[in-house]
Amino acid sequence: MSPGKRRIKIAIAGVGNCASSLLQGIEHYARSSGGDGAGLLHLSMGGWRPEDVEVVAAFDVDRRKVGLPLHEAVFAAPNCTTAIGSTLHQSPVLVQMGPVHDGVAPHMADYPEEQAFRVAEEPPVDVAKVLASSGAEILVSYLPVGSQKAVSAYAEACLASGVSLVNCVPVFIVSDPHWGDRFRAAGIACAGDDIKSQLGATILHRMLARLFVDRGVRIDRTYQLNTGGNTDFLNMLSRERLQSKKISKTEAVTSQLPYDAGAGNVHIGPSDYVPWQKDNKVCFLRIEGHGFGGVPIELEARLSVQDSPNSAGIVIDVIRYVALARERGIAGPLLPISAYTMKHPPVQMPDPEAARQIEEFLAQQG
Ligand SMILES: NC(=O)c1ccc[n+]([C@@H]2O[C@H](COP(=O)([O-])OP(=O)(O)OC[C@H]3O[C@@H](n4cnc5c(N)ncnc54)[C@H](O)[C@@H]3O)[C@@H](O)[C@H]2O)c1
Repeated sequence: MSPGKRRIKIAIAGVGNCASSLLQGIEHYARSSGGDGAGLLHLSMGGWRPEDVEVVAAFDVDRRKVGLPLHEAVFAAPNCTTAIGSTLHQSPVLVQMGPVHDGVAPHMADYPEEQAFRVAEEPPVDVAKVLASSGAEILVSYLPVGSQKAVSAYAEACLASGVSLVNCVPVFIVSDPHWGDRFRAAGIACAGDDIKSQLGATILHRMLARLFVDRGVRIDRTYQLNTGGNTDFLNMLSRERLQSKKISKTEAVTSQLPYDAGAGNVHIGPSDYVPWQKDNKVCFLRIEGHGFGGVPIELEARLSVQDSPNSAGIVIDVIRYVALARERGIAGPLLPISAYTMKHPPVQMPDPEAARQIEEFLAQQG
């Protein structure tokens, strides 16, 4: 970062594995001044490099994280993501107690401490007040799947404080027209919902489905089975928390088909929690179709990724795009960046079209 340069000030709700990877990634690129941009979609976006993003406030509810400086909290249990660098710069930001609401599933108590959430006893802070006093411009929401009330509470705090929301969680806020209208009326840009990783199961499945369609091969059936061993996967063992995640993941793929493959023929979702996998997510994907003369074609793929750095590689772009939109006075749900980077955007677009619109936006003078 060049001295005196303005930085993008963000707040984080949920200091879990994704937040840890984002912070470690920012540090990684800061140490190499961005390096040659390897691992990034954009080294510079609107003149901002990854290291220009600064966390000024953080919220969590786990007793091993609340009250800790951010650079320590990101390594606290039950976080288990791969270490990108050795240490982080000391952060003056202390993790503050957020409103718990439905953030912590009851079944967490049945699992060992090092694998599951443990709620702190502190009373929650006033999130809107903290956001306003911290100078944050953007709140990145990284709460567990199924946190409908908690994510809504953070979204309300954004509206009350004029802070943009980047919603990485499959709770439909930015893609909900009612919420979208409220952000537009308040003059606040937002992007969401449910982050689509850099090279994850969703983008791979979308691209392969698109390939079948583009080559005239009709898809008859498909599945995407995912296993992982982080708290995201542990949380998703609760099937009642999964409703919007299933919708989000399924629509991300079916939106690429110009026909209805039939609900019973598409099975997409988190499939099991395997503790020893930790942050390693494995996706098993199968597509069955028929081509020329009705002759069958089958495709099987296995993708193995580190889940959290994979999402951070996209979030680093969303943050910079939202900051640029704020500078340009654009309000409400940001459509191309949401379509490109989120599984459940307000408007689905083919990825190349969303990418084209993003580049067009970046090329415009502010
Ligand atoms: N590649 C990816 O990892 C990926 C991709 C798409 C979506 N997501 C979504 O991003 C979200 C975050 O993923 P993660 O792997 O970091 O999860 P995580 O389980 O590691 O972290 C969640 C954090 O939220 C905290 N929390 C729970 N309730 C809270 C509340 N009310 N207020 C503040 N903090 C609270 C927990 O203590 C924990 O620190 C999940 O919803 C996940 O599904 C992740």
